[in-house]
Amino acid sequence: MKSIFTEESDLNGMRNAGRLGSEVLDFITPYIREGISTAEIDRICHEYMNDVQHTIPAPLNYQPPGYPPFPKAICTSVNDVICHGIPGERILKSGDIVNLDITVITPDGYYGDTSRMFLVGEASILASRLCQITYECMWLGIAQVKPGAKLGDIGYAIQTHAEKAGYSVVREYCGHGIGKVFHQDPQILHYGKPGTGESLTQGMTFTVEPMINAGRREIRTMPDLWTVKTKDRSLSAQWEHTVLVTATGVEVLTVSEKSPAIPAIVQPLLGNLISTNH
Ligand code: MF3
Ligand code: CO
Ligand code: CO
Repeated sequence: MKSIFTEESDLNGMRNAGRLGSEVLDFITPYIREGISTAEIDRICHEYMNDVQHTIPAPLNYQPPGYPPFPKAICTSVNDVICHGIPGERILKSGDIVNLDITVITPDGYYGDTSRMFLVGEASILASRLCQITYECMWLGIAQVKPGAKLGDIGYAIQTHAEKAGYSVVREYCGHGIGKVFHQDPQILHYGKPGTGESLTQGMTFTVEPMINAGRREIRTMPDLWTVKTKDRSLSAQWEHTVLVTATGVEVLTVSEKSPAIPAIVQPLLGNLISTNH
């Protein structure tokens, strides 16, 4: 299944869901410090979604075929965890990098999916460069989005920037269509060839969420069947936005007051960006 939204009511539903997802990240930001556990981060986010936003965390009990139900409200992926880290007793320490991935469902049934990286305490140069390059990768992918562009254009922009920096792109997980369903077609690969793949059309909503490894691209899935790590134990980073294809370009839906600024190297390419939903 794929969603192409044409009604303004649906677009507003997606804008609202996107902003709410991003606002969970704004809210949790000051808590991301040395000494907090990932379970505590999950608890605070879940309480904010439930009590303040009246949204539902999409990950909780999410169970795609072949997986056990995801047991928590958010994903917390630390250091060599690529994605789908399960919040637990792990305590964040200085030098850690952590991805927090939030997906909210609004009362009217729309999904907003977004993630950011956080540096804990004193981060190494390598860790902060990986997070920065990955952020640029996501935005370079978004900068390709407009009607008539191809999915391969997005992947190519991301892969080129990551590999130029000496990093690798995870192949097993990708972005996805999203709307009134969490994961749907099309798959948004974070690697590829320009001018190939499906054409983008106005009204499509999907995520761009590159996972970039400092070392090799291979993955290892843990016995919990959710947590995915780098096989070589190298650091991994990820950022995610949910976007809408507009008549002339792209609208980024998962933005809020404290969203990090668009990277300087991407700014000149953003003739296609009509709005960031502020
Ligand atoms: N939010 C993730 C994504 O970007 C999916 C998490 S599924 C979960 O697609 F069950 F692990 F939460
Ligand atoms: Co996603
Ligand atoms: Co996500």
